[in-house]
Amino acid sequence: MAVVEPKVVCCCLLLLTGAVSQGPRVDYRDPACAVRGSTLTILCSFTPQSVVEDGKRVLAEIVRVVWCQNHQICHLTTPSVYDSELRYARVNDPRYRYLGDKKGNCTLQITGVQRGDNATFRFRMEAKETKNHFTGRGVTVRVSDGAQMEVHSSTDGQFKRGEAVTLNCTTKCTFHQLEVTWLRDGHALKHTGPSLHLAALTAMDSGNYTCRLKNNVGSLSKAFSVLVEAEEEGSVQVSLIVGVVSAVLMLLCFVILVLVIIRQKNQSAVRGEAGPKYNQAEGAQQQVEDVTYAHIQFRASGSQARPVEVEDDSIIYISVVARG
Ligand SMILES: *[C@@H]1O[C@H](CO)[C@@H](O)[C@H](O)[C@H]1NC(C)=O
Ligand SMILES: *[C@@H]1O[C@H](CO)[C@@H](O)[C@H](O)[C@H]1NC(C)=O
Repeated sequence: MAVVEPKVVCCCLLLLTGAVSQGPRVDYRDPACAVRGSTLTILCSFTPQSVVEDGKRVLAEIVRVVWCQNHQICHLTTPSVYDSELRYARVNDPRYRYLGDKKGNCTLQITGVQRGDNATFRFRMEAKETKNHFTGRGVTVRVSDGAQMEVHSSTDGQFKRGEAVTLNCTTKCTFHQLEVTWLRDGHALKHTGPSLHLAALTAMDSGNYTCRLKNNVGSLSKAFSVLVEAEEEGSVQVSLIVGVVSAVLMLLCFVILVLVIIRQKNQSAVRGEAGPKYNQAEGAQQQVEDVTYAHIQFRASGSQARPVEVEDDSIIYISVVARG
């Protein structure tokens, strides 16, 4: 009975002060840890001190926002990682980007997290009046150095041709906006997001996949093997046989064609001896339309070359007889 619950008292006090003065506050969403080389976003929101202006209660106007490391109140010349007014430094380190504003969002993004970022970060807001300055409690960033990435698949088991699969590059450590390097059989792929989507799998997608953080070679994951079944062996064999057979057929046709042309040329040469005038005329035409001639002769020889030849001979014979 003698012990008064301190938590209850605390809560009541907080509620009271909150209701009356709406004191300034800063809220972070705590990142558990950040992998070296990753991009970390510390989500943060704030409410400035409320003040009375012209009889009305309004939020104090914030004129400067600061993020600093390892310091209780980030004031005066405390080295900052971000200072909206650059009061003590000429430039802000570009690795720290302030994504917030001076109204209520104090989100800070750290790219390429380094060992030195293993620290407590605090956000400080400064109003026009010094008494309304406020520094929030710290947010602790733990930088994990040797974190090994892991590849997980959206499907477990077999990888079937034509199906889609997503490979995810993850780690036990919490982080945001990860830039990763994907490798297949040791060769870097173009994709840099934490999820690698493979649409309509083909045998070409087979391989050992690994991923790592872009700026951290030591974070390379173990290999994840993707084996997409090749085309069914039966169909491969059938198409092979069909190909070979058609090639042989084409070759055969070509040989027959060449033989026929040679034979036709020999025949026309024989005819040329019999009648020089006839041969002259035919020879001229042959020169002009060599290909067409061969084609026509080929077709004729198949069906009625013989009878035509006999006819021709007989005509010549008849005409010779007539002249005689
Ligand atoms: C603050 O800004 C960040 C970055 O633009 C955004 O992701 C976040 O949602 C904002 N927070 C709030 C409370 O609006
Ligand atoms: C993947 O690696 C294993 C051994 O680690 C090897 O047997 C296999 O052939 C590799 N797969 C490919 C597609 O290179």
